[in-house]
Amino acid sequence: MTAPLIDPFARAITYLRVSVTDRCDFRCVYCMAENMTFLPKKELLTLEELDRLCSTFVGLGVEKLRITGGEPLVRRDIMTFFHGMSRHLDSGALKELTLTTNGSQLERFAKALHAAGVRRVNVSLDTLDEDKFARVTRWGRLPQVLRGLDAAQAAGLQVKLNAVALKGFNEDELFTLAEFCAERGMDLTWIEVMPMGDLGNEDRIGQYWSLRDLRAQLAERYTLIDLAERTGGPARYVQVQETGQKIGFITPLTHNFCESCNRVRVTCTGEIYMCLGQEDVADLRAPLRAHPGDDGPLEDAIRAAIAMKPKGHDFDYSRQRADGQVTRHMSHTGG
Ligand code: GTP
Ligand code: 5AD
Ligand code: SF4
Repeated sequence: MTAPLIDPFARAITYLRVSVTDRCDFRCVYCMAENMTFLPKKELLTLEELDRLCSTFVGLGVEKLRITGGEPLVRRDIMTFFHGMSRHLDSGALKELTLTTNGSQLERFAKALHAAGVRRVNVSLDTLDEDKFARVTRWGRLPQVLRGLDAAQAAGLQVKLNAVALKGFNEDELFTLAEFCAERGMDLTWIEVMPMGDLGNEDRIGQYWSLRDLRAQLAERYTLIDLAERTGGPARYVQVQETGQKIGFITPLTHNFCESCNRVRVTCTGEIYMCLGQEDVADLRAPLRAHPGDDGPLEDAIRAAIAMKPKGHDFDYSRQRADGQVTRHMSHTGG
């Protein structure tokens, strides 16, 4: 039995997030610039390389695999990859195969995802207002995503909505979003906006809505019961006594969760980022490509990267500047 992946702070790495494309059919304001230059296709790991890479991580003890992007469902033939990964679910090595998506392609792919063993999807949706949705995603159209949600549920997928909390944007939808999810049996997770990417005219501090405040507003109307149960990600959940629904909070700013971090990220070009909020990076593509028949060098490179995992991020808005700003776009590492 190979030794599991343990980082310098004694955290076991069991959760891998893999971005399969840097492209997206949306241009969310907090994630991408409007005019993005995407990578040439030859830079991307092929589907076979992605399979080998993920399988190597599974061999090293990764139990949860989340596919991200960009938008993962715009990658050509991505279902081939999902179907390949389902063998690790069948063997019991992988406990969860899942994805984070903007929902635009779910109408097309929901059934195939379920057939590949996906049981849960996280869909990013910040607003239920068509005009606001078009503004925040720049290129997205809400009805297409709503049809995607219906298709996912009809296919038997459990759906969780991710909403980035944005002051002056979706504060007024705190209860509308909660009710929308409660009526449909979906969980909802709120995320504090992180200072990432080339901010341009974006004012992250102005947009920042702390989840401490958001939770206090929820508690004025609902009875919130803290839940100990987790989904393996950074969210902490409450149950709303009145509706039974679960609401999660991802609070990189108000409550740093790095001490229990269990994850690393791999980009679509095979770079491993040890922390979302740091620039530490190592290349896995070179050992993958240089040794097609031997996973040893890739394993060594993965272990060397994990040995460099930093303690946590330095995001900080407390000094009225977006300190800890990370210049790469969120879409590069997949959130
Ligand atoms: P579950 O499996 O449902 O727990 O999902 P998850 O929260 O692990 O995955 P998801 O893709 O839904 O993550 C939502 C968002 O949480 C990400 O896009 C990030 O914005 C944030 N997030 C996830 N992991 C980290 C992390 O390690 N550090 C920071 N700062 N933010 C994270
Ligand atoms: N801060 C917080 N969350 C973000 N996401 C994208 N950019 C940011 C940011 N700057 C979220 C999206 C999606 C996930 C992939 O990342 O809303 O849920
Ligand atoms: Fe695309 Fe998701 Fe980034 Fe929006 S947040 S631009 S949907 S990758």
